[in-house]
Parts: sequence; C-alpha cells; structure tokens
Amino acid sequence: MPGVYILGIESSCDETAAAVVRSGEQVISNVVASQIATHQPYGGVVPELASREHLRAIVPVVRQALNEAKHTYASVDAIAVTQGPGLAGALLVGISYAKALAFAADKPLIAVNHLEGHIHAVLLEERQKGNHEVALPALALVVSGGHTHLYLAEPKARGWTYENIGRTRDDAAGEAFDKVARLLGLGYPGGPVIDRLAPYGDPKAVKFSPAQIKHRDRPRKGRNHDRGERRGQESGSADHHPRFDFSYSGIKTAVLRYVETHNMQPGIEIRRKALASRAKLKVEDYLAQCDKPTLDLSASFQRAIVADLVEKTLAAARAYDVATIFVTGGVAANDELRQTFGREAALEGLPAYFPSRPLSTDNAAMIAAAAYPKFLAKDFAAMDFSAEAGLALR
Ligand code: KG4
Ligand code: ZN
Repeated sequence: MPGVYILGIESSCDETAAAVVRSGEQVISNVVASQIATHQPYGGVVPELASREHLRAIVPVVRQALNEAKHTYASVDAIAVTQGPGLAGALLVGISYAKALAFAADKPLIAVNHLEGHIHAVLLEERQKGNHEVALPALALVVSGGHTHLYLAEPKARGWTYENIGRTRDDAAGEAFDKVARLLGLGYPGGPVIDRLAPYGDPKAVKFSPAQIKHRDRPRKGRNHDRGERRGQESGSADHHPRFDFSYSGIKTAVLRYVETHNMQPGIEIRRKALASRAKLKVEDYLAQCDKPTLDLSASFQRAIVADLVEKTLAAARAYDVATIFVTGGVAANDELRQTFGREAALEGLPAYFPSRPLSTDNAAMIAAAAYPKFLAKDFAAMDFSAEAGLALR
C-alpha cells in the first residue's frame, strides 16, 4: 500500500518498544517488551536495570517489529525515536540504536517527544477507525506514571504546537496509584491492580478531600479564544487565564494515615508476602488476599483521583473553549476514568477520545505516528542530538 512507513523506537522508561506505522494512520506492527518482571521485586523502576534491559531487548524487538510488518531496514522511509522525557540511560539506548540504523540504512532520523507520542496515539487510532474529522484544538490530558499534564494541541503550518496549561505540582496520578498499591501490599505497577480491584469496593466508604491548589494566574501567549477571554474578564483579568494544576501527594498521605489509624498494617504485611511469592496473578488471587477495608480504600482512592482528573480537565476545556478532549498515557487505561470521562464530557457536548488500552501505555506506534507530520515538514534530527531526560513539550 502506498504511504510513508516509519519505524518507531521507544525506550524512555521500562518498555522496549518498536513499531511500523503507515502515514500516521495505520499500525502495521507494534511490539512491546515489558520489563515489569525485572523491576517488580524492587517495587518500582530501577534506572540502571532499565538501561541494561533495553540494551538486551532493543535489537530483537526492532527486528520483530520489522519482520511482522514485512519490512526491512531498507524499505522503511524514516526512523523515529523518543528523545525525552524519560530516564536518561534508558533513552540513550534507543537513541544510539536509532542513530546507528539511520546511518547504516541512510534514512532520515526523527526525534519525538514522548508526551507528543501519547497525544498522537489518540489521532492514530481515530484515523485507523476512519475518523479523519477530529475537531481541534484538543485539550489533551497526558496522565501516566511520570506526568499529569494538560496541553492545548493543534496543528500549525509546520507540524503540531502544544501549550501546557496545567501539570502536577508533586506526584503524577500514575505515581500515586503505584505508591498507594505498594502501601497496601498490592505490588507493582499499582494502577492496573487497583483498576481491577476497585469494582469490588465501595468508592464512597472513605472520603478524601480534593487537593486545594492556589492558582496563580499566568498570562497566556498568542491565543485568543472568545470564551476564554470572557472568563478572563469575569475574573477581572482580561489577559490572564487560570492554570489547571494537579496534586496527588496529599491523597497518598491520607491513605497512609487511614492505614495507620485503622490498624491495617499487619494485614498488609501478610498480603505483601502472599502476593510476592506468586507470579501471573489473576484478580481472584488479589481478592483472596484483600479484606473489605482494603477494597473500600482502593475504590475510594481511585474515585477521588478520577473525580479530580475529570473535574479539572473539563473546567480547563470550558475555560479554553476547546473542541475535543484527549485522555492518554498509562492511567488512561483505567476503566473508571474512561467511563467517567465519557459520561461527563458527553454532558458538556464535548467528544472525549482515548487510545485503546495497548496504545494508552508506553509503545512505539505512538512515536512513529507523532513522527509523521515531522516527516512531511522535513523536520529531521541532526546526528548529534542527544537524550533529554526533562524535555518539555511545546
Ligand atoms: O504511560 P506509561 O505506560 O508510562 C509512563 O510514561 O509513565 O504509564 C505507566 C503508569 C503507571 O503508573 C501505571 O500504574 C499506570 O500508568 N497505569 C494505570 C493503569 N494502567 C497503567 N493506572 C490506573 N489504571 C490502569 N489501568
Ligand atoms: Zn508514557
């Protein structure tokens, strides 16, 4: 089939991934090698181990992605790789390999921001479903283990532009899921476990007060949406717009306090040991180790996070008068988050788009998709570009 075939490579955290995507709209292959088993005993990602695992996996993963796509190093049109943000040592493995391939096969090299990749996962899948009419600008909530960020996203003459209008002040939402799960002896990564256990608990059992954040209004640059302007005037500052920041370290502390005051620690230690000794756990295995207070606490915690994410995102969507909401990143795989967003956004008459679950968490198809507009704009990386652990999206 005619089109532009881009080989994407992603190694920013604990997934080594490669994919071939046609013209930003069709996933031809998508291979993800997860390192969860390596990091599980440590209860989180160990950067040094991550780099070593990437080094081990990168060649076979890329080879498999090309084989499954029936492509070769010579037949793809370009090579795209995650430049950042992420773990520096992990990023360097993907970048070194992508550079070597681009040099040897004489292909253009495209550097992609990981967060931009998450946003393009949404567009890729909508196009793949035949929806080429996604209304823009979009408000994208990128919600993962490292980020809880709101971006205004829209295409401009030479590729896409992004404006950050909100971010977490402390823990990312996925990080809070992981820390609370670890606290409750549920293992790592915590998001998928709490997601599966939450339906068995009472989400109203424990009240968490939402994080109060003092907003210091910041001037916006170069945008002029009518409704946003009016809102600015209502609050007495015509050129100022509110930030929509998040904070999740308080709720994590509240869970810890609840555990202490309800004497849950002995039960948690028993659960931690019981679950640590088993592999490939099913939801029944977790349920067998969880009492009602633990299930109620998990469900209430998830409800509080979901309610806060949805409320702030919809408030930002109103303030900036966007046409569409994107929800993407690992936490976007969460069932309650998807359902609540779908319902609440519909009430506002706003379409809300999610990637499928496999493309919500880290993958390389999103990197290849985000690279496509850069390919068209000939926005290629110089051979001396390097990893940027704290790369900002703009
Ligand atoms: O995007 P991602 O794969 O990697 C980062 O860029 O961080 O996100 C991983 C994060 C982890 O914190 C994980 O616990 C969380 O996403 N996560 C979930 C779910 N699946 C993954 N959180 C809540 N519910 C889920 N189903
Ligand atoms: Zn990610």
